[in-house]
Amino acid sequence: MKNFIITIDGPAASGKSTVARILAKKLGASFLDTGAMYRAVTFAAMESGIDLANEEKLLEIFERNNFSFTVQNNSMMVQIDGNDATEFIRRQDVTANAKYIASAPLVREKLVQMQRQFASENKAIVTEGRDQGTVAFPNADIKFFMSAQPGERARRRLAELKAKGINENIEQTQESIEKRDKSDMERNVGPLKPADDAIIIDTTELDIEQVVDKLLCFIREKGFSE
Ligand code: DC
Repeated sequence: MKNFIITIDGPAASGKSTVARILAKKLGASFLDTGAMYRAVTFAAMESGIDLANEEKLLEIFERNNFSFTVQNNSMMVQIDGNDATEFIRRQDVTANAKYIASAPLVREKLVQMQRQFASENKAIVTEGRDQGTVAFPNADIKFFMSAQPGERARRRLAELKAKGINENIEQTQESIEKRDKSDMERNVGPLKPADDAIIIDTTELDIEQVVDKLLCFIREKGFSE
């Protein structure tokens, strides 16, 4: 297998995480969920009770806490100081507070460094997030940008929440997705946007399998899969 870096960026609930995970498995590559990294720092910061808007304090989190991101059964496991935080980082209050961590330039720098370190330790990776094709891996072999209409993303997120026993209405879900889009697109560092050379995939009308097939066609064309 050739070495490669494939990036998948896109807004919340666009399906990029599921697609990245399936693709990585099919290609025998490692999967990196960079949102989990932002979430882990957010959770650790919340636990320590610091002011989330204070970047200096946020940076101290890296000195104080040890983060470990590993892939088990093709999903991202997060440990903070040896304790499993995989479930906690998906909490809704963590989701809402991640914007503070995502807009802190020096924190982003640290996380981008960790992402590059991960890439250097793995031969082939599929990495997903918001800035993977633009900032973390501008020389990636293939860059995708996945999007979908907010209404469809809200419907998908609602189904996920329901499966976890959380009941929200579609308006609430769509509102929080649109809020996240706005803060992701408007931040000064690593904003959500497609790289100039990204392949844009609109998944509004597609199911996961169709998206995976579409991406695999491009990957084959580039000679990274049979
Ligand atoms: O993809 P996600 O919902 O798990 O991401 C959680 C948060 O982290 C989201 O608010 C955006 C931010 N994020 C980011 O700024 N850059 C990335 N590469 C990945 C996520």
